[in-house]
Amino acid sequence: MNRCILITGASGYLGRHLLLSASSRDWRIIACYHRTQPLLSSPNIRAMPMDIREPEAVRTVIRRARPDLILHTAISRQPTQFDAVIVRGSVHVARAAAEFGVGLIHLSSDIVFDGAAPTYDESATPHPEPQSGQPDPLSPHGRAKARAEHLVREIHPSPVIVRTSLIYGFEPLDHSTRWLVEGVQAGRKVTLFTDQIRRPIYAPDLATCLWELATLDFSGVIHLVGPIALSRYEFGLLLCQKLGLDPANIVAAPMPSDFIAPRCLDLSDSLARALLHNRPRSPYEVCLQN
Ligand SMILES: NC(=O)c1ccc[n+]([C@@H]2O[C@H](COP(=O)([O-])OP(=O)(O)OC[C@H]3O[C@@H](n4cnc5c(N)ncnc54)[C@H](OP(=O)(O)O)[C@@H]3O)[C@@H](O)[C@H]2O)c1
Repeated sequence: MNRCILITGASGYLGRHLLLSASSRDWRIIACYHRTQPLLSSPNIRAMPMDIREPEAVRTVIRRARPDLILHTAISRQPTQFDAVIVRGSVHVARAAAEFGVGLIHLSSDIVFDGAAPTYDESATPHPEPQSGQPDPLSPHGRAKARAEHLVREIHPSPVIVRTSLIYGFEPLDHSTRWLVEGVQAGRKVTLFTDQIRRPIYAPDLATCLWELATLDFSGVIHLVGPIALSRYEFGLLLCQKLGLDPANIVAAPMPSDFIAPRCLDLSDSLARALLHNRPRSPYEVCLQN
């Protein structure tokens, strides 16, 4: 019988791309969602509602489904829900996974770091609470993701923590590309920072890497990010080229000193390169070559 994977946040941006590439996978898939029905893009997918803020609901779903693996992608983008969904929701998922002996891949983020280091490898540990001389997340969202990482590692005996960066794609547009497109199409000036450095990863490529990772006997932290670091400004120009948008209204600027976001989040991808056959493409390849 095929192995069973339970995906939280299956109706989210990454979840959608995981499901879109699910038909070629040798898995039975339980696609968990909160409010929005996930895309049932192949017969091996079954949708199931599960509010991760409810510990008993999470426990019941996992006890009944007994998946081999949980791929936990669910988050909230509402600041009032960061603690309930990102922190405690992740705790509920990790506890139930540990109780029923289920493997866990937990999605984390580059924003767990403050960007003070020139680069971060997997041994870098974020500190949700300020500690002098240590990397600290700058935003409430980053702090919630860092707390979730920390607690998941305490609760589950062998989790995989995947730190990723800006996830982008075109069908449909991701949140920040949609903001860029709407701004340009409305004729507004769109300011993009020349010193805000990220490793954007194309959503279909991230999904492919996660499916491969799900088949491996690996536990620990791994960075799944794009192969090159580039500024939001350079990235924005590539997106304009890909989408046929006039970049005349894109304004290049340094980040203002009072802007609360990490400047440079350059996560090393050497472990992923060593471990995985699949390679995420760079934004140059994605935007200029097809
Ligand atoms: N997007 C990025 O650029 C980026 C960058 C770095 C890391 N990541 C990480 O990648 C993962 C996936 O991100 P994403 O962009 O796909 O997120 P997303 O599009 O915002 O999707 C979030 C998902 O979580 C679900 N959800 C919200 N509240 C829930 C609750 N109480 N119980 C159960 N599910 C709930 C949502 O369901 P409803 O739609 O029904 O509410 C949705 O399916 C996250 O862990 C994120 O931190 C993302």
